[in-house]
Amino acid sequence: MLINLQDMLRYAAEKNVAVPSFNVYNVESVQAVWQAAQKKESPIIIAFGESYDSHMPIESAAALIQSYVRDARLPVVLHLDHCRSQRNILRALRAGFTSVMFDASAKPLAENIEDTKAIVRLAHDLHVSVEGELGYMNEEDGTGSVVPGTGYTTVTAARQYAEESGVDALAIAIGNAHGIYKGTPSLDLDRLDDIRKAVAVPLVLHGSSGIPVPLLQEAIRRGIRKINVNTEVSTTGIQAARDFLASHMDPNTRFEKMTKAAETAMSQVVETYMDICALKK
Ligand code: 13P
Repeated sequence: MLINLQDMLRYAAEKNVAVPSFNVYNVESVQAVWQAAQKKESPIIIAFGESYDSHMPIESAAALIQSYVRDARLPVVLHLDHCRSQRNILRALRAGFTSVMFDASAKPLAENIEDTKAIVRLAHDLHVSVEGELGYMNEEDGTGSVVPGTGYTTVTAARQYAEESGVDALAIAIGNAHGIYKGTPSLDLDRLDDIRKAVAVPLVLHGSSGIPVPLLQEAIRRGIRKINVNTEVSTTGIQAARDFLASHMDPNTRFEKMTKAAETAMSQVVETYMDICALKK
């Protein structure tokens, strides 16, 4: 059952948990996520990033994901991750996404608010939710770096942005980074507390791969309602494919056998994050 992000995060707030968001980019990643969700009976956010559009068009991704989840009982959000182009937001709205992330975080605050407001007006007319972002984070593929203590979301900007833009969820920068962490991950939990007290909208943590489980769960306890995970799932798939190829040197080896090995390994990581979010550990 497809629902929007606002409804999903209302559920998360009631239960004091976070809902995991996993990036997908092909049929194997969709199946890895969907099989885990069914096994764990976990609500889920399936995120297709704007940056994957050249790999698989937004419309094809929507049709593929919808074919799995449409008639299911589990609540699912079909989310467009990190989208900087208004045109691609429109494509996602037409294709049936129930949530979009408009990422104007690189722009000055006033411009970010104005541009996001326009997207919120459009999306809300279609009952689609909007996630916004404030603060500096490195690129989604892990390139670029976050210097600890710099580029963090400020409480005043978060308050103003949340009140004026009308977003349904706010992604914050408190030490989190996309990709493999270069040092030991550390989150500014006091800042998280202050932002949570200052804003009414649910908070989102990008760059959740690699954050030690107790720290991630503490962030959830303190009000993170959506965690974004990609790197751990993707690197696990790569390693499984490497292992499979290393042990299958037969030239008659079939491609789909390798992708199935990757998918199975990826699904296990997805399950782990579902447990982390449900605060079972
Ligand atoms: P990771 O790179 O830590 O998996 O984060 C993914 C993410 O935040 C996608 O938006």
